[in-house]
Amino acid sequence: MRTLNDFDFENKKTLVRCDFNVGMNDKGGITDDFRIVKSIPTIKHLLERKAIVILMSHLEKKDKCVSLKAVAERLENILGQKVKFISSCVGSSAAKETNKLKSGEVALLENLRFEAGEKANDDGFARELAKLGEVYVNEAFACSHRAHASIVGIPKYLPSYAGLLMESEVLNLEKILKNPERPFIVIIGGTKVETKIKTILNISQIADHILFGSKIGEIILIQKEIMLGRELAVKEKLVEKIDLTNSKIHLPVDGMMALKDLSEGYSRKAGIGTIRKEEEVYDIGPETIKVFKEIIKGAKTIFFNGPMGMFENREFVNGTKEILDAIAKNRSAFKVAGGGETVEAINKFHAAESFNFLSTGGGAMLEFLSGDKLPGVEALN
Ligand code: 3PG
Repeated sequence: MRTLNDFDFENKKTLVRCDFNVGMNDKGGITDDFRIVKSIPTIKHLLERKAIVILMSHLEKKDKCVSLKAVAERLENILGQKVKFISSCVGSSAAKETNKLKSGEVALLENLRFEAGEKANDDGFARELAKLGEVYVNEAFACSHRAHASIVGIPKYLPSYAGLLMESEVLNLEKILKNPERPFIVIIGGTKVETKIKTILNISQIADHILFGSKIGEIILIQKEIMLGRELAVKEKLVEKIDLTNSKIHLPVDGMMALKDLSEGYSRKAGIGTIRKEEEVYDIGPETIKVFKEIIKGAKTIFFNGPMGMFENREFVNGTKEILDAIAKNRSAFKVAGGGETVEAINKFHAAESFNFLSTGGGAMLEFLSGDKLPGVEALN
């Protein structure tokens, strides 16, 4: 992968693909600027090298494309310098506005996904984008599992380099995939089991222990027909390939049970085998926490993705909090985490400092760890 040190950016119109797909509330206010903050070192690095910086991104909320204007404003505050917002990403006005920029200036183009050519990876659209710059930097690891025009199309037309964040995402994730110091412990929680199966299957060949959180553990047990009389709408049947006789796999032995709709203020702590038809598991229980903590204590590499329970609810915070606490107490392991909900939980429990690396990728990180090649990373090679 070619990196920023391989090119002289002075006075060059530099198109930088970022992932500013940030958390937003219904009023359009930014609630989570983690991804903006993580792109700052590359932007500053390019400015120090006197580049003309033209940023691009997509932004979608509930499957709807949203203007990047609020991102330009937040970026301006964090960067401490003017960020010119350009209200289109291609066409004559985008060309005119970007041509006016001088070395050391920054602009942000409007949402790429307002144009159908972005997702369709339309060649004409990629060429239009490429015309706005002289060199391309991919800083959007979190979007590099998408073969979209701004990710794989532009590199066909411009010299292309990995940004600092992209470089460190690949280095840190490769480190745990290729040569982890052992024991290597993987902790997988959250609810979206279908998005994680391929990663679980690949990583179970590399890791020494895989610890599953409450909901994902429950889903596996239901699909394996160990928890009977219950149905789940999980389409991904690959879950059948998870071998529960593999001694590396640790499912919760107890949990916090509550009614499916969390009604009646009812919850109880109990062994997994005692679950009733009308209940679901909302957090791991004390016995599971004890076993997991013991394993985490001796780890030399830790990868954490997905909370252990419904940590947003006060009654079910304990599992996630205790596991993060155990991770923090292990000071000698190399520790990586990632995923939207995961980083949210880590921030809620003030645990960010205890990790060596927090990935900005959700789907992209899981795909990378599943062993698949990411189109955006391949385009830079
Ligand atoms: C993400 O939020 O994971 C990335 O920005 C990719 O977004 P997408 O799933 O809408 O392509």
